[in-house]
Amino acid sequence: MIVTNYLVIGSGIAGLTFAVKIAEKFPERKVVIVTKDSEDESNTKYAQGGVAVVSDQDQDSFKKHIKDTLRAGDGLCNEEVVKMVVKEGPERLEELLLWGANFDKDSSGAFSLGKEGGHSEYRIIHHKDVTGFEIERALLKRVHQLENIEILPYHFAIDLITDHHITDENVKPETCYGAYVLNQKTGYVFRIKADSTLLATGGVGKVYGHTTNPAIATGDGIAMAYRAKARIKDMEFVQFHPTALYDVEAGSSFLISEAVRGFGAYLRNIKGHRFMPDYDERAELASRDIVSQSIDSELKKSGEPHVYLDCTHLSLKDFKVHFPNIYKECFNRHIDIEKDWIPVVPASHYLCGGIKVNKKGKTTIKNLFACGECSRTGLHGANRLASNSLLEALVYAHNIYKYHCKNDLPEIKFDIPKWNDDGTVITEEHILIQHNLRELQALMRDYVGIVRNNRRLKKAIKRLDVIYQEVEDLYRESKVTTALCELRNMVNVAHLIIQQSLDRKENRGGYFNSDNIEVVVG
Ligand code: FAD
Ligand code: SIN
Repeated sequence: MIVTNYLVIGSGIAGLTFAVKIAEKFPERKVVIVTKDSEDESNTKYAQGGVAVVSDQDQDSFKKHIKDTLRAGDGLCNEEVVKMVVKEGPERLEELLLWGANFDKDSSGAFSLGKEGGHSEYRIIHHKDVTGFEIERALLKRVHQLENIEILPYHFAIDLITDHHITDENVKPETCYGAYVLNQKTGYVFRIKADSTLLATGGVGKVYGHTTNPAIATGDGIAMAYRAKARIKDMEFVQFHPTALYDVEAGSSFLISEAVRGFGAYLRNIKGHRFMPDYDERAELASRDIVSQSIDSELKKSGEPHVYLDCTHLSLKDFKVHFPNIYKECFNRHIDIEKDWIPVVPASHYLCGGIKVNKKGKTTIKNLFACGECSRTGLHGANRLASNSLLEALVYAHNIYKYHCKNDLPEIKFDIPKWNDDGTVITEEHILIQHNLRELQALMRDYVGIVRNNRRLKKAIKRLDVIYQEVEDLYRESKVTTALCELRNMVNVAHLIIQQSLDRKENRGGYFNSDNIEVVVG
């Protein structure tokens, strides 16, 4: 068993930022980060566009950023949260710079600012088209300089330890005491007893086979919190990014950043028609929900599997300076962006909902905090404004840190039971896991996509029940493996997405159910 003051699950921007801040403040306290892959593997690492921050108060203003965020969220944002996050942006950016992150500047030394869908101004701070890679690099470097942080890569958090696991009179109801963790190299499950636990486990993209997210995005934190009976909210608001590179063979699809449209690229349908002006006066720079739904409508009309992103009218020289990675990825796939249009299609990208937290990042379970993409803060409402996610993670990591500075850590006096896997055996049921995973992903793609309806959602719930039973049976009988735990988590997450979709009776932002359109008679 490991005993620690702070357990951080996840090593993306949310987990690392909190770990660095708290470790710097309390050098005598211990911080343990568990992360299920290599230490840098995360959604953060692949972030392209950048961080939305008002850095130039002459041209831009907090008021405009707030207005854009609220408009994108389609009436469901928490306005207080929006104001707080936007206004704190510049300070949090300063910290990132102090930790050594580099962002592009223009010849005058000011930040070179990008623009993305839904933004009324140029305000996206970026490091070429690999912003997340740069942030992750800087944060990990700082983590390794701090002696009171221990980082455990290839360690998978299976479940939170809560009062349900413990029989002791000092145990408090609805309280978290750490987590059971699988060492993926040895197969050994051990306890981490923690005074405070932070879920920073990122997104759920892999629930849909076709996603911009890397393989780690299996919604583990949300599923763990759900099983621990934390409140989970707004799961119906899955954000589909409009422009993932169309690649029939790829599981995770390479993203063509929205910043490319901010740079002037056009969306064209299969006939070559530039269709976005037909849907929204902001054309290609309408918010993401609108662009994805418009592409979906074009695909349904044409029956084709993709539309195109046309960059042929842009300066190749400038494109290569701003988007070297996108240029290289296209080139490697024999797409010459100077002559060829890039085939693109929407793909699952981001979850606006998640584990409900208050402004301090507290979940509905004591000693349990959530930050970053796995959390639901109220910032995004029904649809996230581009590049507000990295910003949200920075601001909430800071708020959780502030909470811990002001409040003493609880003392845990009792023992925590060992992981109990009596009666389980090592099963070699990879085929069962793979089959159920494929079925789950197909179900989500076909029945719970950009445009939903009640009939398909109800069918999806029924089919999911069958998968759920099969996976739970296997889980009860088997020694745990990462693949099995991830599948179990994805089934939980899929259930939440479908059930909360059925519960929503009106269309908002990224949620569109064709049965919710009012039929006007006469
Ligand atoms: P992640 O960065 O995903 O980190 C999660 C961590 O948790 C990982 O280390 C993972 O291994 C670990 N983990 C998960 N489950 C477990 C478990 N059971 N046990 C142990 N460890 C676990 N947002 C922007 O604001 N601007 C952008 O430009 C932008 N571009 C994007 C481009 C792409 C291709 C993608 C996929 C997303 C982009 N986003 C962008 C969204 C943004 O990157 C993410 O929302 C954000 O990075 C999430 O950070 P996080 O720390 O919450 O989670
Ligand atoms: C992108 O670069 O298009 C992604 C930005 C985001 O998800 O916020």
